[in-house]
Amino acid sequence: MRITVVGTGYVGLVSGACLAELGHEVTCVDKDKAKIARLLRGELPIHEDGLPAMVARQAAAGRLRFSVRLPREPADLALIAVGTPPAAHDHSADLSAVHAAAEAVAAHQPRGRPLVLAVKSTVPVGTGDVVERLVRRLRPDGSVTVVSNPEFLREGSAIADFLEPDRIVVGTACARARALMREVYRPLIERGSAFVATERCSAEMIKYAANAFLAVKIAFINEMADLCEAADADIAEVSQGMGMDRRIGSAFLRPGPGYGGSCFPKDTEALLATAHQHGVQLRLVEGTVAANEGRKRGLGRRVLAAAGNVHDRPVAVLGATFKPGTDDVRESPALSVIAALRRAGAQVRVFDPVGLAQARQVLDGVAFARGPYDCVRGAHCVVVATEWPEFLRLDFRRIAALMSGRTVVDLRNCLPDAKLEAAGLRLVGIGRRERTGAPPPLAPSLPVAGLALEPSVSIGAI
Ligand code: UDX
Repeated sequence: MRITVVGTGYVGLVSGACLAELGHEVTCVDKDKAKIARLLRGELPIHEDGLPAMVARQAAAGRLRFSVRLPREPADLALIAVGTPPAAHDHSADLSAVHAAAEAVAAHQPRGRPLVLAVKSTVPVGTGDVVERLVRRLRPDGSVTVVSNPEFLREGSAIADFLEPDRIVVGTACARARALMREVYRPLIERGSAFVATERCSAEMIKYAANAFLAVKIAFINEMADLCEAADADIAEVSQGMGMDRRIGSAFLRPGPGYGGSCFPKDTEALLATAHQHGVQLRLVEGTVAANEGRKRGLGRRVLAAAGNVHDRPVAVLGATFKPGTDDVRESPALSVIAALRRAGAQVRVFDPVGLAQARQVLDGVAFARGPYDCVRGAHCVVVATEWPEFLRLDFRRIAALMSGRTVVDLRNCLPDAKLEAAGLRLVGIGRRERTGAPPPLAPSLPVAGLALEPSVSIGAI
């Protein structure tokens, strides 16, 4: 099948490459000339494991092309995967790029030649109706059918999410368009993914409802963690005991510093804006947004309560991205922690295995370390803000020897307690009692005090 993907952001690139992988002939189009030029050179604008190799493979096989223009050969399917940023005046989604892309694609299609136009961008319920009206003006014969085909890709596991989805949601009342979409995804359906055919509006709602529900789950477990902390219960045990109930499920019950990223914060706000427009109050979602915002604001207090006086003292923050497996720092809770530490006068040093370049663009007045051990050198306190797997495997005796203080704040409850205790560190987590190992006897040759005063040599301060 011949497919045009409009938009080469996260969703467009992953979808385009994966659809080529399924055997389709795909052209990814973007009006950003510089971006297309980079893609033609094989440079990817996003970090996603496995994607560069897949793009290179499919491009070499001739199944994946990049262009600033819509292809001359008419497409069977056009996927709209352009951005829907928050609108300037409120938190609703700005749909101007979706509308423009749909109009361009419809106008480009030869008259009378059928085209399914699938909206993959996350758009508020009812957008398909508006897009259909726009398209109808250009192609009144009804040859262009607008369907909703939301994506459920997580950054860091987007390829697996595309190729092994729990479900493929397609919203349309048109049987021919539904059959075409089923054919597009046939290899995935044959491998066991469910094909969920719905009304167009329902498909649009599914995406927002799913994201909002996951956000609710996270906000809920975070509140339970607060209560566990106060009541001396352990959130890990509570979360496990809850999650084993199949009606609840164990996913998204990890407590932490609050959800971040480009989707949950934006989509929950956009859902509230849609509900407001319809005169419906979503109290749970409102509460979730407020709870998450409050959590991020309160992170600083939490860390300072554990660390004590940080004024003029080095504090190491391990992790800047909103989660592991991505270089994305948008709405990352790590940024809120860093801001609070700076307000308290700490000398903040940051290390992230992948997200340093992005972090440098948004953080002022902090130092960036080249590695985790550089980062913790002389640190009064270490804060783990992102659960990168490499942080779990650190040599904690070495960390303890390098630090000037003993406190490690683990905002993800990801570190191996026993190893930290054995290293004599004090581990402060979320929703659980703190663990304190006995301080190891000071080795005479270890200049611990000196390290606290000595500015780290290998840190590139900005
Ligand atoms: C999310 C949805 O999962 C995906 O289906 C949708 O298409 C886009 O939005 P993403 O933002 O990439 O994907 O990340 P996800 O893995 O869902 O995590 C979102 C946030 O929730 C992160 O900040 C993460 O740290 C946090 N989280 C997740 C928790 O705090 N606890 C959990 O148990 C799970």
